[in-house]
Amino acid sequence: MAVKNVPHIGNMIIAIDGPAGAGKSTVAQKLARRLDLRYLDTGAMYRALTLKALRSHLDLDDEDKLASMAADMDLHMEYAYRRIPPYRVLMEGEDVTAAIRSREVSAHVSRVSSLPCVRKEMVRKQRSLAAGGGMIVEGRDVGTVVFPQADMKFYITASVKERARRRHREMKKDGYDVSLHTIQQEMIRRDNFDSTRKYNPLKRAPDAELVDTTGENVSQVVGKLLSLVTERAKEAGEAG
Ligand code: DC
Repeated sequence: MAVKNVPHIGNMIIAIDGPAGAGKSTVAQKLARRLDLRYLDTGAMYRALTLKALRSHLDLDDEDKLASMAADMDLHMEYAYRRIPPYRVLMEGEDVTAAIRSREVSAHVSRVSSLPCVRKEMVRKQRSLAAGGGMIVEGRDVGTVVFPQADMKFYITASVKERARRRHREMKKDGYDVSLHTIQQEMIRRDNFDSTRKYNPLKRAPDAELVDTTGENVSQVVGKLLSLVTERAKEAGEAG
């Protein structure tokens, strides 16, 4: 059921950051549905670029070529909660929703997303997609770099064991045969890379609410975020 009668929510930018497998996407999409907001998965943008670069056999260290590929890429991300699946990524008209989650893309996306010129281009796109507000934006640097003035920021995390278990479950469901140990190792490597890179690393914004989802189910987490957002919107209403 959607939350109604709270003014200001419809214009809010809500930033959700955190490491891989913390449950950001699930929570962000459910929150978007409850608040009737748009939803943007910035990780999907870096993944789509990585897929395109791999398919074109581009040198993944060629920053200029990757940045211009990012600028020219025809990418549409659609979220419609009544549809199954609700989230779809279209690149040059092709549905790449599943292809961008492949292990090959996951193995290279950190490298592509660490390049400053690529990030500048993506941040520009993300700001333009969120123009007008009313959007939940999920990623690694949304609260720190893309929207430092976001109306509400969350940093969602969970223990590495739990994050790996969740990703393992998802991958098994999608038909991938990978061991839990391998997934955990890959996750640790990617988190390390993402949070130690020089340019726009993964980190919690000082004003982001820290949400640890270890041992919590999705509806508990969504409920927590929902009450924090409505509280914030009411405060904004009272402040004029
Ligand atoms: O959320 P995800 O696993 O789909 O993200 C894929 C990769 O993209 C991840 O390794 C980090 C990177 N990323 C980023 O650097 N900045 C973002 N705003 C979103 C994702």
